[in-house]
Amino acid sequence: MTKAPFANPGWAGNTGDFELTESEIRGSDFVGERPKSGGHASGAGAMPFMFRRREPDSEIFRGEYLERIEKVVSRYPDKRAALLAALSIVQEIRGHVGHADMREVAELLDLPTAHVRGVATFYTMYNKRPVGLNLVQVCTNISCSLMGADEVFRGFLDHIGVQPGETSDDGEFTVVEAECLAACGFATCVQINSRYYENVSAEDIPDIVAHLRSGGGE
Ligand code: FES
Repeated sequence: MTKAPFANPGWAGNTGDFELTESEIRGSDFVGERPKSGGHASGAGAMPFMFRRREPDSEIFRGEYLERIEKVVSRYPDKRAALLAALSIVQEIRGHVGHADMREVAELLDLPTAHVRGVATFYTMYNKRPVGLNLVQVCTNISCSLMGADEVFRGFLDHIGVQPGETSDDGEFTVVEAECLAACGFATCVQINSRYYENVSAEDIPDIVAHLRSGGGE
C-alpha cells in the first residue's frame, strides 16, 4: 500500500480508507485522450461503487465492510450521518439496495426504515432492484443527445437484445437512460458500472460489449 495523501476524506469507499492513489483508483489514462474502453472513472469519488463482482449471499457489514463503515461512522458526531456511505457499501456488495438491506442499514444507524427508504429512493445512483453485472447508463441529456445519444441508446438495446430497464437473460447487462453525467464535453457519455465511456458512437457498441463480456471494465 502506498502512503498517499488522504485525498477525499468525505468518501467512504475504497479510496482514502485504503490509501490508494488517484491513479491507482482511476488508472493513469484518464488524463488527456479519453479511451473508449472505459479508462476514465471520473465519477469514482462521488458515486457508489458498481462492480461486476457481487456477493449476493454474503451478510452486509461484516469483515472488511464492517471495518469500513465503522471508520466512516467514527468521522461523524452522529452515526446517522453515515447513511449514504452505508447504502454505497450495500450497493457495492449486492449491486443494488434491497428492502432487507434498507432495514439492516436502519438498524445499524438507529434510523427509521422509512427514512432510509426515502433517501435510497431519492438518489438515482442507488439501484432499488437487481441489475445486470454491467449496468449500462446512456446519457440522453442535451449535449449527448446532440451528439447521437438516442442512436447509442437504441444501439445498446438492439445489440444486447433488451428493452429499456430490462436485464439480459444471461444476467450480464441492464441498459437504462441517464440524465446528464457531467461529461458533456465528451458526449455521448455512457456510464458502465463505475466507469465512464466517452465520445461513444453507435459504431463503438460491438467493441464495448465484447470488451465487457470478456470481463473488461472492472
Ligand atoms: S449531457 Fe450527457 S454528460 Fe452532460
